[in-house]
Amino acid sequence: MNGSDFSLRLLRWYEINGRQLPWRGTRDPYRIWVSEIILQQTRVAQGYDYFLRFTHRFPTVECLAEATDDEVLRQWQGLGYYSRARNLHKAARQIAALGHFPDTYDEIRQLHGVGDYTAAAIASLAFGLPCAVVDGNVYRVLARHFGIDEPIDTTAGKRLFAQMAQELLVPTRAADYNQAIMDFGALQCTPRQPRCPQCPMADTCLALAQGRVESLPVRQRSASVRVRYFTYVYVRFGEEVLLQRRPSGDIWQGLYQPPLRETSEPMPLAEVDTWLGRYGTLSLLRADRRHQLTHQLIHADFYLLQATQRPPLEGLWIRESERDQYAVPRLVEDMYGLIPNP
Ligand code: ADE
Repeated sequence: MNGSDFSLRLLRWYEINGRQLPWRGTRDPYRIWVSEIILQQTRVAQGYDYFLRFTHRFPTVECLAEATDDEVLRQWQGLGYYSRARNLHKAARQIAALGHFPDTYDEIRQLHGVGDYTAAAIASLAFGLPCAVVDGNVYRVLARHFGIDEPIDTTAGKRLFAQMAQELLVPTRAADYNQAIMDFGALQCTPRQPRCPQCPMADTCLALAQGRVESLPVRQRSASVRVRYFTYVYVRFGEEVLLQRRPSGDIWQGLYQPPLRETSEPMPLAEVDTWLGRYGTLSLLRADRRHQLTHQLIHADFYLLQATQRPPLEGLWIRESERDQYAVPRLVEDMYGLIPNP
């Protein structure tokens, strides 16, 4: 199959299956930019509410430029990756000083916190420029459909995929094409359990024909470093805190820790809230504390739950004053350093 068939079929799929999203009905570069920065760290379902709240509070780039750092961070609260909010704020001031939103790829790419992906997204979605986006969805869809086993996290691999993406782009329909391939990756050609039996592109998918759907795309680092996301909640109820013992078969076997959930991506505040919020007041102490082990990179978020009732969790309720009698991993010790006194 040639590339243009692929692209036209993708566009047809999108016309029927594309998602209705609050930033899709606009060509306002400011709203598109904000939505893309939010979606870099959050799934669409979670990002939706943050987008509406943020753009309600800061409806224009001028409003954002005039806000204080604290106010911007407050609106970002819970989204994590606070450097992205700071960059957004700095870039808003760059744009305000410029007097208009930059409208070429190169100028957009100069903004604080705007990389290749975001620049291509803004250029195509807001200005209709023929710039192909390359995000995780694009790597996955292209690697599978065209059966490419070049790793996606090497310089050569990135160059290859960027080139392919650019060749496949339908220049006159850049905005639709870019969103089509991202939606296709998010809804149809998903990382796990892709919906191949219902896929309209299945007949030309090389990975499917070769039984390699689950093993593409290839990452070089996956063999050596495992990336994990931990969300710890320090649960305090009166003078007691809850500790759990780490099970065998994983790092830090037998050490203690506050209640922990592991996820495949950073856990959004809304999910932490669903998990434990009803038992008291939750506050975020630290987002994305990184902890490097030989073969693992741990991204940890730390929360405090000031409980008003005892959550029904397994574990050991101990007096907080006796906490230091329980051995914990260094990461948890660091977390203890952030806990305010009772
Ligand atoms: N993920 C990030 N940005 C997106 C967009 N504009 N459309 C679909 N998925 C996305």
